[in-house]
Amino acid sequence: MRYNKLGYVALNVTNVERSAEFYVKQVGLMPSGTGENGEVFLRCSEDHHNIVLCPSNAPGLKRVGVEMQDSAALDELAAKLRANGVQVVEVDAAEAAAWHQKRSIRFSDPFTGATFECYSDMLAWGGQPFIPTHTKIQRLGHVVLKTPEFEKGVKFYTEVLELKISDAIAGGACFMRFHPNPYHHGIGLGVSKAPLLHHVNFMVTEVDDIGKAIARFSKAEIPIVNGPGRHPASGSMFLYYLDPDGMTLEYSFGMEEFPAEGARKPRTFEPIRASYDYWDSYLDTKRKAAVGAIERLDVTNRQR
Ligand SMILES: [Fe+2]
Repeated sequence: MRYNKLGYVALNVTNVERSAEFYVKQVGLMPSGTGENGEVFLRCSEDHHNIVLCPSNAPGLKRVGVEMQDSAALDELAAKLRANGVQVVEVDAAEAAAWHQKRSIRFSDPFTGATFECYSDMLAWGGQPFIPTHTKIQRLGHVVLKTPEFEKGVKFYTEVLELKISDAIAGGACFMRFHPNPYHHGIGLGVSKAPLLHHVNFMVTEVDDIGKAIARFSKAEIPIVNGPGRHPASGSMFLYYLDPDGMTLEYSFGMEEFPAEGARKPRTFEPIRASYDYWDSYLDTKRKAAVGAIERLDVTNRQR
């Protein structure tokens, strides 16, 4: 399967204006317009959007957008999904265009309920580069979901979607990449009693981005719920913090990259805390990854 990258994450937020201000001023994204349903588009690349804030009473994940290498790759994915009994919806062309995307398809991951929208192309934002402010965000890094059906979920992601496992923590987490995209993980899956969004990650350029965030968040009384710490699996230094609805975001600095061919085999780590964070940093277990309802796709209706 020829993926390009994790393209965007659409989040449901209870107050779009408040969240937009937070994602611009505190996270460091650039605004790129609004949509016809009150959604706010934000970016950290040349893409039209990498984060979309959508009005809702249930804060959480609306949709995960994934960019394929081309239209043929999109066809291949759709055929594989259908062959495995997964319903695939062709997104109406006008609806895809309203989100500045070319051909797009949608399906539900049966084990988290998350909606995926895969598309061949997204229009660039006037050819203008992302201009960082306080934080040199490199890219939207990854999204992590959790589900009670962890093992089945991993099987779906690896066998049907053909993602590659980079590393796993026995029985608790699995980190997968959008091959041939080199980054250690674009998607992670964890275990929980009910399906939930775990966190959304932004990769940053330097360690100063992490240090400055700690100072900025302290002054603005933004809760830091984990870190700064270090993940043994990806090698990333991390900082987890909360958005205005209590959803968990992460900055990470540094990540292992894999070659398209001849990559090392996946490792499985012991299910101990050091496998998640070998610095054993501050962790707020009550608030980290506590908010993040997953919106279900009703295939009979438009989702936006
Ligand atoms: Fe992460």
